[in-house]
Amino acid sequence: MNYDRRRQESLSDLVLNSNYLLLIYPEIDQLSCPTASSVRRARPAMPPNNHTTSPKTIEKAASTRTIPIQKPVNQICQVIEENEDGTLVDPLCVPGNPVKVTFADITSASFKVKNGIVNTPCVRSHLSSLTGMEIFLKKDFLQFTGSFKERGACYALRMLSEAQKSKGVTSASLGNHALALCYHGKLLNIPVTVVMPKVAPIMKIQACRSHGATVVVEGKNMKEAKQISMRLAKEKGFTYINGYDHPHIIAGQGTLGLEILEQIKDIDAIIVPTGGGGLIAGVALAAKTLHPGIQIIGVESDRCPSFSKALEQGKPTEVPIYSTLADGLAVPLVGYNAFATAAPLIDKMVVVKEEWIAIAILRLVELEKCVVEGAGASGLAAILAGLLDDLKGKRVVIPLCGGNIDTTILGRCLERGLAVDGRLLKFCVTVSDRPGGIADLCQLVSRTGVSIKDIMHERAWITSDVFSVQVTVVCETMDKEHTNQLKKVLTESYKSVAFGDEMNPWTMKLID
Ligand SMILES: Cc1ncc(COP(=O)(O)O)c(C=O)c1O
Repeated sequence: MNYDRRRQESLSDLVLNSNYLLLIYPEIDQLSCPTASSVRRARPAMPPNNHTTSPKTIEKAASTRTIPIQKPVNQICQVIEENEDGTLVDPLCVPGNPVKVTFADITSASFKVKNGIVNTPCVRSHLSSLTGMEIFLKKDFLQFTGSFKERGACYALRMLSEAQKSKGVTSASLGNHALALCYHGKLLNIPVTVVMPKVAPIMKIQACRSHGATVVVEGKNMKEAKQISMRLAKEKGFTYINGYDHPHIIAGQGTLGLEILEQIKDIDAIIVPTGGGGLIAGVALAAKTLHPGIQIIGVESDRCPSFSKALEQGKPTEVPIYSTLADGLAVPLVGYNAFATAAPLIDKMVVVKEEWIAIAILRLVELEKCVVEGAGASGLAAILAGLLDDLKGKRVVIPLCGGNIDTTILGRCLERGLAVDGRLLKFCVTVSDRPGGIADLCQLVSRTGVSIKDIMHERAWITSDVFSVQVTVVCETMDKEHTNQLKKVLTESYKSVAFGDEMNPWTMKLID
C-alpha cells in the first residue's frame, strides 16, 4: 500500500477517534496537550451541538461513524476468579478473550494523565555519529519514580470508581510498576498493596516502601507474586491491576508514543524494550495509527525472549527465564491483551545479549550522562550489537524508559561494559620472586601508559618453581588497540601470561 494512502487512512482513523474523544471531553479543544493538538489538526469542522457528553449521543454518533465501542473496562466484571485447581485468574487478562486496546483509549489516557506525569524530553543523541543513525532519546526515566510505568499506573488509578478507590488496589511487580502505583496511589489517596518477588531489586523494594504503600516481598518469581497479589484482591476486595496487560495500563503507556510523535517529525523507526508487552502495544498503536510507515521494533533480553516466542507460536507462550540485567523485561508469559493489540503492529522483534546491555548502559553514562537501567538501555543495546544495521541513515527513536538501577549493579555494568569494550583488562602472569620482580612488571605496564586498578600476588599454590610468584592484575586501558599493545609487550616479556577468559574464573589463575 502506498505511504500517502496509508497515512490518509490513518488520519481518517484519527478523525474518528478525535471526534469520539471530543464527544467525551469537549474541554480538550482548549488544551495544549499532544492529544489536543493532534485532534485540532486532524478533525474536520464539527457542528457545535455535537459537543455533548451524553452517553446516548456518543453511541449514536459512534454508530453512524462506525466507531467500534467496546464495553468500558470498568463495566467488565473485575472480580478475581478461582480455577478448580486453586489458581487465580484476572478476568481482564484471559487467553480466549483478549481486550484489544483502541487509539481512542490512548487519546483518552493522554487527556486524563496530562497533569499527573511528566512530558519528558526527546532529544537528538550524541550516539548518532557512533551508530550512523539519527538517534533521538525519549528520556522517560525522568518521570518522578524513574520509569514510563507511571503513565499506565496514573491512568488506571484515575479510571477507578469511587468504591474501588476507597478499597484500594494491588499488583505484583518486579519494581517499576509497583513504584508507579505506590507513588500515584499516595497522590490520589488510594491505598496500594504491592507484592514483589524475592528477586526484585532491593532499591526498588525500598523505594516502594518510602511511598507509604504496603509492600509484601513474597514469591520466588513473578508468577508466584501474581497469585499472592490476586489472593489479596479476592480476600480484601482490592482491585487487581496487571502491570502490562490491564487495558488501561496499555492505553496509558501509549501516551509515550503520542508524545514522541508530537516531539519528533519524520520518524522511521521506534525501538521498544519489551517485557510483558504493555509498552510496545501502546506505543505501536499510537504510532501506527498516526503514521503507519513508522517501523515498530521490539527488543528483548536473550534471557527471557517471551514476546518472540509468542509471535512464533501465534499466542502468548511461557518461556523459562534466567537472571538478567534487564530485570524489567523478565516476564515469562506476555500479556494476552498486549499481545492481541501489539502483534499485528510489530515489524520486527530482536533479542539482545547481556553484554550489549552492559555496554549500552556504559555508553549512556559516558556519552549522554544518563543513568538508565538494563531494560531501559536495551533499545540502544540492539543497535550497538549490530542487530539493526538496516536502520543506518534513518531517524530512529529509542525510549530510555527506566532509570532504576541498583548502584552496585550499575558499578558492575560499567566494569563489564569496559571489559567487553576492551578497556578493562585482567591478566595473570608468573614473574620472578627475586627482589624487583613485581616492580619490573609494574614498570612495564606503566611504560605502556596503562593504569593498574588492582594487583594481587600469590606464592603458595603455584606449581612452577619456588622462585616464582603469580601476579593477577586488573588494569584500565584507553581502547582495544591500547589493550593489544599491552598484551604484546607482556607476551614478549614473560613466558607464562594469560588474559581474561584464558583464566580460571573461580581461582583467577592460569588454566594449566
Ligand atoms: C524500564 C522498563 N522498560 C521496559 C519495560 C517493559 O514494559 P512491558 O512489560 O510493558 O513490556 C519495563 C517493564 O517493567 C521496564 O521496567
